[in-house]
Amino acid sequence: MVKAAVLGYGTVGSGIVEVIKTNQKLIDQRAGEQVDIKYILDLRDFPGDPYENLVVHDVQVILQDPEIRVIAEAMGGVEPAFTFTKAALSAGKSVCTSNKELVEKHGAELCELARQNSCSYLYEASVGGGIPILRPLATSLTADHIDAVTGILNGTTNYILTKMDEEGADFDSVLKQAQEMGYAERNPEADIEGHDAGRKIAILASIITGKDADFDQIYTEGITAINPEDFAYAHTMKKAIRLLAIYREKNGSFFAYVAPAMIGRDNPLYGVRDVFNSILVHGNMLGNAMFYGAGAGKLPTASAVVGDMVDCVRSLGKTLPGGWSTEKLPLTDHKSRAKRFLVRIKEEDAAGFREVFGDCEEIRAGIDGELGFLTAEMDENEFEKKASRIREYISRIRVED
Ligand code: HSE
Repeated sequence: MVKAAVLGYGTVGSGIVEVIKTNQKLIDQRAGEQVDIKYILDLRDFPGDPYENLVVHDVQVILQDPEIRVIAEAMGGVEPAFTFTKAALSAGKSVCTSNKELVEKHGAELCELARQNSCSYLYEASVGGGIPILRPLATSLTADHIDAVTGILNGTTNYILTKMDEEGADFDSVLKQAQEMGYAERNPEADIEGHDAGRKIAILASIITGKDADFDQIYTEGITAINPEDFAYAHTMKKAIRLLAIYREKNGSFFAYVAPAMIGRDNPLYGVRDVFNSILVHGNMLGNAMFYGAGAGKLPTASAVVGDMVDCVRSLGKTLPGGWSTEKLPLTDHKSRAKRFLVRIKEEDAAGFREVFGDCEEIRAGIDGELGFLTAEMDENEFEKKASRIREYISRIRVED
């Protein structure tokens, strides 16, 4: 029997306990040992909860118990999760987590610490919720040079964009629904401003390159400025609006950024709706492979954490692959990557726009007093330079292939 502990009894932590208890027999079979939760760490008490007797308030009880071999960290945030994880790994206890903030910031050193102590630090749930993506990148796609990843990596924003698109719902009420369903971060700004997706693309870029991609260097633009009129243009153009997390390597330059974009029906990500996430990976030998599934929510996320725990139990005393070095990945300014733009302008500014941008495709979405122009492909510096020469524009949105 292998004893385990869960740090944090919130949405994901309680999901981890539920997954283990529901699928106990299967999990034990696959782990090759019985997996028994001995402790749950939380500051709160849970009177009436079936596992209230497992709750402890002092992490030392867990860290100093030699029986504990595997820990699921579902606390979220950098501290105290970082301190607890370091102490656990230093004591040779494997740690599995959904905590993308911590993984993005300290993943490299925590994986190294695990290696030094013959245990593992696994974080499958930190990107794409329940979708297996990190393990395939670390252990399956090892023959390929991965040069492009395009991801829908945030369930909350995909849910909001889907409801705004299909039901004409307003931003605030859909955000509230997503929060009630347990998808959103404690601070929803991380979702709607693209920071959560930014951390996830940083983790993917780090695993792919083996170097540390820094979230602070990643441009993030959220979805708060997207409005019903943008969807009117998208419908006319037979496109969808998605919050895309993009990683590209081109001629030795690395790009990583997050921004809303229009994508067409040919793009495999077009049909990814609601809380679902998807990651489209391109390898130089493989071509495209797409990973799809529930990107947020209690049980899908917990399923990925427990999958990691099973792997740790199977490999006690060993370190499973998946880390990267602390050497920084140099990122090139996202502005130098070329793309097309849909620019909405007032009717009276159309002639001035054409003069500066040349002959662009004109899009009419049935909105009084305005029209859209689809520009030729250009980088963002060039776009901004040209845009500064026109009187004004209402909004612009990137159009990705
Ligand atoms: N808030 C995140 C999302 C949770 O909506 O995708 C999963 O990381």
